[in-house]
Amino acid sequence: MFRLGLIGNPVSQSKSPHIHHKLLQENNLKGHYQLIHTEADNLGENIEWLKGQGFTGFNVTVPYKEKVIEYLDFLEDSARVMGSVNTVKIDQGKLIGYNTDGKGYIRSLITLSPNFLKDAETKSVLILGAGGAAKGIAHQLLQSPFKQVNIANRSLKRAQSLVNQLGASHFLTLTEATEELAQYDLIINTTSVGMSPHESEQVIPLNGVKPGTIISDIVYKPKWTSFLIEAKQRNCQLLFGESMLYYQAVKAFEIWTNPKYNLNQLRG
Ligand code: ATR
Repeated sequence: MFRLGLIGNPVSQSKSPHIHHKLLQENNLKGHYQLIHTEADNLGENIEWLKGQGFTGFNVTVPYKEKVIEYLDFLEDSARVMGSVNTVKIDQGKLIGYNTDGKGYIRSLITLSPNFLKDAETKSVLILGAGGAAKGIAHQLLQSPFKQVNIANRSLKRAQSLVNQLGASHFLTLTEATEELAQYDLIINTTSVGMSPHESEQVIPLNGVKPGTIISDIVYKPKWTSFLIEAKQRNCQLLFGESMLYYQAVKAFEIWTNPKYNLNQLRG
């Protein structure tokens, strides 16, 4: 019996119960995924409660993805690099923190384009944005030998610091990026620009982009952002934000249900 849950505030609009109940069913596993609305003062108390109740693990959402770290016993590499945790596994009474955003993104990319990572040496990637989401995605992409992974951001300093921290290729301004879109095979919007209720906004125009380029938006509300609408008009391949959302949940589910992710493995 897998007892799973989500800690955050707010949690009521979350799609996670639906996704995880479906994954449990598809894998013939018994379990339940529970929403646990948590006030800042109750974070530690609620985590203790989850441990005491025999939960297998839980997800963490805003505003506790960083704050939760002080309650954990171990951090897996992706969570350490990002300084943020979205998935916790409770194993032998110990709490292990993971961040599945980057790996979830990669899974969504491979689902759209199965050979993209295999051909990494011939591919150039442009990441728009230099916040937490950009960091998770860039960190995972940089595990493959891409020709280049460039980061463009409104604040150039932030792009520079992320490029330096992760060992990415180049940093540039959004304006510079718009002038060289033809050289990229994958362009990812990791900013919140275009998110409802600001649907008409777009982080950069897509003039000059090659047809067939993968245009990817992590915004999933609305599904069809202005960025992706323009990408479709330009005959690009589209990677929707809801795909990343789904696969980061699948990654969390694997961590909870696959013995490969146990404590001994992490220590080994
Ligand atoms: P997250 O953790 O969700 O990535 P974040 O750390 O606040 O959130 O980062 C938001 C990203 O969206 C940043 O790259 C931000 O650019 P700045 O670093 O220059 O602030 C980008 N962003 C937000 N609003 C933007 C806008 N109107 N135009 C361009 N970029 C924007």
